[in-house]
Amino acid sequence: MSTAGELTVLGIETSCDETAAAVVVREGAGRGRIVSNVVRAQWEQHRPFGGVVPELAARAHVECLDEIVGQALADAGVALGDVDGIAVTAGPGLIGGLMVGVITAETLAMVTRKPLVAVNHLEAHALTVGLTDGVAPPYLLLLVSGGHTQLLAVKDVGTYVRLGSTIDDALGEAFDKTAKLLGLGAPGGPAVERAAAAGQIGRFDLPRPMFNRPEPNFSFSGLKNAIRLAAVAAAPLSEQDIADLSADFQAAVAASVENRVERSFHLSEAALGYGAPRRLVVAGGVAANQALRAGLERLAARCGYTLHVPPVALCGDNGAMIAWAGAERLARGWVTPPGFVARARWPLDAAAAAVLGAGRLGAKA
Ligand code: KG4
Ligand code: ZN
Repeated sequence: MSTAGELTVLGIETSCDETAAAVVVREGAGRGRIVSNVVRAQWEQHRPFGGVVPELAARAHVECLDEIVGQALADAGVALGDVDGIAVTAGPGLIGGLMVGVITAETLAMVTRKPLVAVNHLEAHALTVGLTDGVAPPYLLLLVSGGHTQLLAVKDVGTYVRLGSTIDDALGEAFDKTAKLLGLGAPGGPAVERAAAAGQIGRFDLPRPMFNRPEPNFSFSGLKNAIRLAAVAAAPLSEQDIADLSADFQAAVAASVENRVERSFHLSEAALGYGAPRRLVVAGGVAANQALRAGLERLAARCGYTLHVPPVALCGDNGAMIAWAGAERLARGWVTPPGFVARARWPLDAAAAAVLGAGRLGAKA
């Protein structure tokens, strides 16, 4: 049982291809502590298909979620009846998996009479630095994952202003497609990063998408095409060709992202207030990329910002970030009423207009 002012929260995550559960404690002063964190990836089930198959993902969540939740509670040494709340990813993501998580969490909340908190997966990524580094809003956030690439002014828990967004592919998607093209397998981001380590930057002339465009938006589909053409021209590809292509792809991505982030600084300052601390937070699966981190570290130092990135293990999807976002909401008395329906699409800034030039308006949160 939690001591005075503390909240112990169980978090459940099933929005994509990781089944995850964790127990997190939020101390009275707002600091967080991970007590357990269990993540089971489904790569083996999806590998033969070259990508995540939604129906297989949902079935895999059904098969192991009870076990993963049980493991998280056992690792924490906490009984279900002793938690202060149950948090669950309720969107955005693959609807089948989300429904598995939400129905499970609602049932657990009902039988234990504990409060349920429906968590936006993007908010959980956005707030992870609060758990890992004690960094609370306001800050500028670069959110880079498999389905999303956005710049957001995080004014407070629950208050987000979108400053920029991708107009086509998400950055993680670009990494995954590049890995597939180069025969590097899945998950693509780490595979490209590993290959790039043995590569030489500068052999292939790849574009820096959106460079110096005034609005801090992103685009990766042109780069994807350029790397495809470069790979076709260099075929058959040797190990060194693959390493060099990976290194140039990563360098192009890092240069483009740094430029886009730099272009967002004045918008962020206007949104957060000119006296707000100059803090840049990076979150989501792609935040694990060391080349991107290093580039953003240099940019931050040059522009008087501090950079905050969660440890690599908490950049990808996990239950601890869901539990933490749930605890932050619970601490404010924000509880979800029964009957909440999972949402495949759930933007953090619902008021933001569609980005001009986006080829798939409304397709992604
Ligand atoms: O946040 P996340 O785990 O899931 C989503 O919510 O989408 O992000 C997954 C994405 C994948 O596209 C994966 O390839 C990418 O993050 N990723 C990376 C790295 N680790 C994971 N991309 C680049 N470098 C990495 N080290
Ligand atoms: Zn994610």
